[in-house]
Amino acid sequence: MTKLSPHILVQALLLQPTVYTPIWLMRQAGRYLPEYRKLRAEAGSFLNLCKNPELATEVTLQPLKRFNLDGAILFSDILVIPDAMGLDLYFVENEGPKFAKPILTLLDIDNLNVSNLLSKLDYVFDTIKNVKVKLNNQLPLIGFSGSPFTLACYMLEGGSSKSYLSIKKWLYTNPVALHKLLEKLTAVIILYLNAQIEAGADIVMLFDSWGGVLSDAAYAEFSLFYLQKIVNNIHKTYQNQAIPNIVFSKGGGVWLNQIKQIGANAIGVDWTINLGVAKQIISTNQLALQGNLDPGLLAVGDKISIRLEVERILASYTEANHGSHSGHVFNLGHGILPMTNPDNVAYLVDLVHELSSGFTA
Ligand code: CP3
Repeated sequence: MTKLSPHILVQALLLQPTVYTPIWLMRQAGRYLPEYRKLRAEAGSFLNLCKNPELATEVTLQPLKRFNLDGAILFSDILVIPDAMGLDLYFVENEGPKFAKPILTLLDIDNLNVSNLLSKLDYVFDTIKNVKVKLNNQLPLIGFSGSPFTLACYMLEGGSSKSYLSIKKWLYTNPVALHKLLEKLTAVIILYLNAQIEAGADIVMLFDSWGGVLSDAAYAEFSLFYLQKIVNNIHKTYQNQAIPNIVFSKGGGVWLNQIKQIGANAIGVDWTINLGVAKQIISTNQLALQGNLDPGLLAVGDKISIRLEVERILASYTEANHGSHSGHVFNLGHGILPMTNPDNVAYLVDLVHELSSGFTA
């Protein structure tokens, strides 16, 4: 028998009744917080923060000190996996992530070092253990990984991209080689997420940030197929606790009919789809939805415009769910933008709690 979780966020992901709609925010720790910018300056770089469990713990906890969030998310990055595989990650100010040794040839894929990879990521598991001690079971901790396709994008492009033509060249002219890379990443991600759960993560999330750049058929073959494999193979319970998982394909609103079949606990959706329509498409009481405020609104909006949109999102979900907010986790449709005023975040978090308490469970 699995034990009932005391955490509202876990309850919502498992579609149990909750006293209000829980909320956490992608990139809730980050550059919009002055205390984050200060610590990053002291550490010298973003990667130094990620690789130092004490500092990464402090950053993970920073947003929880300010806001009444319902969960913590591990402070790290999806790109630490390819970094540990030997691609050497670095960040260029205003340009984002880069790899010193991107994958250029088939031989690079064959030579990828995937043995003993978890030991190179010990700093992640140490951070999780540290955070768990500090949280003292007051809030759940979300662990995460990038999806195989999204990691492959960065590994083949060498960094961020506008058109994804490097990975598309592999996809259309050498799909066998791309599948080989995606298989390797899938095997590693399963081990990595299970190790995060064993270190203490209460929830895990897969970030498929770039699945949405694919055609319909390519998404099913090169992204969703591997997400399914991961969901099939990660722990669903650990030490008698249910460990819910969340799958987020940015731009995936058009594929909800396919995504709903892979057996995840929750689907994250961006702001381009109406949440009530998403609920109707998934038409099941087995699957939660996470989302979906436009992060642009939180960055540029005022209290009136934020309130109107929060009311609309909450109502669209409950109307499609027979008047109940059960199974909805409030979030943004993508990460918080760096220019966001923390006052707007405080307002949003309390508002979601206040307004959703008024709906029936
Ligand atoms: O959500 C959280 O608070 C947890 C921490 C987290 C970060 N990155 C911290 C971060 C998570 C879950 C991620 C995931 C991530 N990283 C994704 C998937 C989600 C998404 O946003 O689509 C992707 C694609 C990455 C890769 C990545 N890392 C990019 C593209 C960038 C640059 C972003 C930018 O706006 O310049 C990063 C750096 C990064 N990851 C920062 C943070 C707080 C900013 C680093 C800094 O300059 O201090």
